[in-house]
Amino acid sequence: MVKFISIQEAIKKGKGEVALHGWVYRSRGSNKLKFIVLRDSTNTVQCVLAREKFEKQWDEIDKIQVETSLEIFGTIKKDDRAPTGYEVQVKKINVIGVSDEFPIQKDLNEELLGDRRHLWLRSQKMTAIMKIRSTVTGALHEYFRGKEFYEFQSPVIIPGGAEEGPTMFELNYFGKKMYLAQTWQLYAEAAMYALEKIYCIAPSFRAEKSKTSRHLTEYWHTEMEVAWADLDEIMDYAEEMTKHVIKKVLEKNKKELEILERDVKKLEPSLKKKFPRMTYDAVLKNLASKKKMKVKWGKDLRTIEEEKFMESYDTPVFVTHYPKEIMAFYKPSDPKNPKTARCFDMLGPEANGELIGGSERDTNIEELKKSLKAKGEKLEDYSYYFEIHNYGAIPHGGYGLGTERLIKWICGLDTIKDAIAFPRTMTRMKP
Ligand code: 4AD
Ligand code: MG
Repeated sequence: MVKFISIQEAIKKGKGEVALHGWVYRSRGSNKLKFIVLRDSTNTVQCVLAREKFEKQWDEIDKIQVETSLEIFGTIKKDDRAPTGYEVQVKKINVIGVSDEFPIQKDLNEELLGDRRHLWLRSQKMTAIMKIRSTVTGALHEYFRGKEFYEFQSPVIIPGGAEEGPTMFELNYFGKKMYLAQTWQLYAEAAMYALEKIYCIAPSFRAEKSKTSRHLTEYWHTEMEVAWADLDEIMDYAEEMTKHVIKKVLEKNKKELEILERDVKKLEPSLKKKFPRMTYDAVLKNLASKKKMKVKWGKDLRTIEEEKFMESYDTPVFVTHYPKEIMAFYKPSDPKNPKTARCFDMLGPEANGELIGGSERDTNIEELKKSLKAKGEKLEDYSYYFEIHNYGAIPHGGYGLGTERLIKWICGLDTIKDAIAFPRTMTRMKP
């Protein structure tokens, strides 16, 4: 039996007999000679077929279109003229699956590429991004498990929210109203009392009516919750985790970053430097003095303000102590300045906006009830959440990372839609 090897392995071998299988990436030639660039998940290699050796099969070979799947047997050798530096002289070829004319040409616009996403995934660009995405999620698991976190999963179908009602997707659950989870957090806090250090990477759902380059309606949320931790320790985890992921991508995905034409110099400062930590108050002062932008105290930072502020930084920045009133109900007020909450956003450089949101957690049930009421929430939906803090409450906290936002930044993508294979946004739900 022949043993097929990957194109990358064949190139590494560099000479001698090889058996390859893959898809036609490109093909050109005359009626004497055919050049087929074969691709598999690992690389591409040019294969040459001379008509004199394939007289009987030439009709079939002549009809081979882009994306036809093939088995190729031949000898590989170095050839500097070939696209990846090697060439295979073909001795035998089997067509496995014929291909219709591939509907994607280079110049299709973003909408049409979106409609044909199931095919566009085979492109060099999407393949590179999916490989980096796999490194990112692998590195996240590795980071948390390395720190002895347990992986904990929470329900996706839930009775009530955590991050503000209007952004929840409703579900008809046997005639009852239920919702898709925006976060695992409230369940995670229950489990934290058992496991102390937990994390999860799972889909979260947001019905935000935002058509921006950083909003999905379904995204992969990397969340963590830690017992006994204060704000600074939580930010330490966020920073160390981010550095670990970037380090792994730079180690494993040089080639993919090159395909994406990502300037890796823009990522390197984040490995070397400590991410600055600043309060919301300091950011307002900075915006007023350096950017001539006035933000009224108590207002959330808008995208334009975050971006202007971040222009001066080449690493993420932690912005802490946002106004308590505009924060989610579970973020406690700071005893030193009760109008502010013990929380942070980690903003990304290069106009990538909020990558991570986190906080300490309020365990004062009266305070929680007050905040929920002010936000017009129904207290009975949260009765389990109040109860967990009635039995040995402790200081704790955690954060959530928008995994696609991190991937968008690392890959230098224009839109978050390319950070996930089949994006869901307000206007994109197919395929
Ligand atoms: O800031 P958020 O809403 O925080 C939470 O959900 C907390 N319960 C997390 C926690 O402490 N366990 O969301 C966290 C992160 C944001 O910083 C952002 O990166 C990402 O989730 N995110 C989105 N990503 C893509 N599309 C959207 N519509 C997103 N909404 C939030
Ligand atoms: Mg947030």
